[in-house]
Amino acid sequence: MKSLGKPLSRRAFAGSALAAGAFAATRGMAQTPGPMPTMDSQMGPFYPLGYSGEDDFDMTMLKGRTARALGEVIEVTGRVLDRYGNPMKNAAIEIWQANSVGRYDHANDQNPAPLDPNFQGVARLVTGTSGEWRIRTIKPKFYDTPLGVRTPHIHFDVTGTAQKLVTQMYFPEETEANAKDFLYKDLGQSAPTLVAQRAAPAIYRWDIVLMDAAG
Ligand SMILES: [Fe+2]
Repeated sequence: MKSLGKPLSRRAFAGSALAAGAFAATRGMAQTPGPMPTMDSQMGPFYPLGYSGEDDFDMTMLKGRTARALGEVIEVTGRVLDRYGNPMKNAAIEIWQANSVGRYDHANDQNPAPLDPNFQGVARLVTGTSGEWRIRTIKPKFYDTPLGVRTPHIHFDVTGTAQKLVTQMYFPEETEANAKDFLYKDLGQSAPTLVAQRAAPAIYRWDIVLMDAAG
């Protein structure tokens, strides 16, 4: 039987220089190639299934409480863009993360580190007219898993018009820890698309690029 050869994996495709421009080239579109699409990454075991608590942009303060969540307060902001770099308004973003000691408020988390009753843990946002979004949160701590230590990260589930992207955001100052993280390593050359930029000591910027065309 004639070998068909090894097909190009989705990961290799998305990580190649072809990724964004290929669509325009093969479909004869006039648009110039856009930025590298944001790579997907595992949802993991702590997706906030059925969460019905507070989910506004400020994850450090809960209504009715006077104390702020423990840990280093940071702001993470960015835009959702389509494959040509156009802003995507009304994209839905769900965010979830561990607290300042690496614990998720989730039934599956076996980490003995304590919960923080003042930490929200989940946010749900919709992008504005220029695709912008923003959260105030605390920097999550690393945590251990049976497969190895997870470097600090924030989980994202982004819904555009044609793509649902489940992925994770990493911190640029954690170069060493990121390099040892088993999921980060799996990203290969696409890893930089998941690393935020540090715009100020407590402000991170991270643009999310979908394969959609905003129109
Ligand atoms: Fe996680």
